[in-house]
Amino acid sequence: MAKDGEKGQWKEFIWNPRTREFLGRTASSWGLILLFYLVFYIFLAGLFALTMYVMLQTLDDHKPTWQDRLATPGMVIRPKATETFEIVYATQDTESWDLYTQILDNFLSPYNDTTQALRNDHCTPDKYFLQEDSGEVKNNPKRSCQFNRTILEQCSGVSDRYYGYREGKPCIIIKLNRVIGMLPGNNGQAPYVTCGAKREDTDKIGQLAYFPPNGTFNLMYYPYYGKKAQVNYSQPLVAVKFLNITLNEDVNIECKINANNIPTGSERDKFAGRVSFKLRINSDKA
Ligand SMILES: *[C@@H]1O[C@H](CO)[C@@H](O)[C@H](O)[C@H]1NC(C)=O
Ligand SMILES: *[C@@H]1O[C@H](CO)[C@@H](O)[C@H](O)[C@H]1NC(C)=O
Ligand SMILES: *[C@@H]1O[C@H](CO)[C@@H](O)[C@H](O)[C@H]1NC(C)=O
Ligand SMILES: *[C@@H]1O[C@H](CO)[C@@H](O)[C@H](O)[C@H]1NC(C)=O
Ligand SMILES: *[C@@H]1O[C@H](CO)[C@@H](O)[C@H](O)[C@H]1NC(C)=O
Repeated sequence: MAKDGEKGQWKEFIWNPRTREFLGRTASSWGLILLFYLVFYIFLAGLFALTMYVMLQTLDDHKPTWQDRLATPGMVIRPKATETFEIVYATQDTESWDLYTQILDNFLSPYNDTTQALRNDHCTPDKYFLQEDSGEVKNNPKRSCQFNRTILEQCSGVSDRYYGYREGKPCIIIKLNRVIGMLPGNNGQAPYVTCGAKREDTDKIGQLAYFPPNGTFNLMYYPYYGKKAQVNYSQPLVAVKFLNITLNEDVNIECKINANNIPTGSERDKFAGRVSFKLRINSDKA
């Protein structure tokens, strides 16, 4: 009996024919609740859409709205085989340096002269390649300058396909990370790379050769306008060849960018504008 009563109460709660209430509310009460939520959510959606619309109006597809003005570009080297900046191999052991030359082959393939001739312009060297927008009129897409692989001469992989690794005179390629709008250099003086050994290794580094001459990043590759505006941009490169490095010893090397208006190793970021790595060439497999 008690059971029946409980069942009856439940049934009545779900649908009470006397008061015509469903789950304890009348149809009009339910209607009002649904209406309230409907209006509420439409209002929220509208507010969201309006905010997004206003935000998007202020954005420019072709350049970032917010960028760290003081950004100092980082430098990276190739080949970089592992997480650490270490290049260790034995000249006698082909397999120990094969990976390095492969990495350089892949890295340099977009710089093939034929590819560059197809994609990019022959620019006037030693001056910025400015392609500013005039007011609201966007000057897009922007052209980019050719950086031919053969500029790297002995480090181009064209004349010496092993980049000197086989003779123990390896090439390292350095690039500067892209910073939109950066105009490096000063008074027509292009930024250039210099490499040196850490103090205790000074006697071991030997003579260096830079390609292009003096290790410069030509001014014509700047400014960079961003991936969307300048689709075919090829970052300029500098190659360093170690001509007489001491074998069978670790040599710690640091390369840095020299440009009056790029502060290196500032308080904020001591890796900015410089890169360190270890080079060790063994003369035998052991
Ligand atoms: C670039 O040139 C090298 C030979 O110098 C060739 O092996 C490679 O396939 C070329 N890459 C492209 C993308 O054309
Ligand atoms: C790059 O190489 C191509 C093909 O050899 C040549 O036409 C072009 O003038 C070269 N560009 C530069 C900047 O040297
Ligand atoms: C980018 O390169 C392609 C060929 O790969 C070329 O057709 C196009 O005109 C280039 N665009 C610009 C903006 O330089
Ligand atoms: C390299 O630097 C030296 C000395 O600063 C200068 O005389 C020479 O013209 C430069 N060479 C090139 C190709 O820029
Ligand atoms: C290479 O370096 C060694 C010392 O590490 C030196 O004795 C030798 O003269 C150098 N050779 C050349 C060609 O500079």
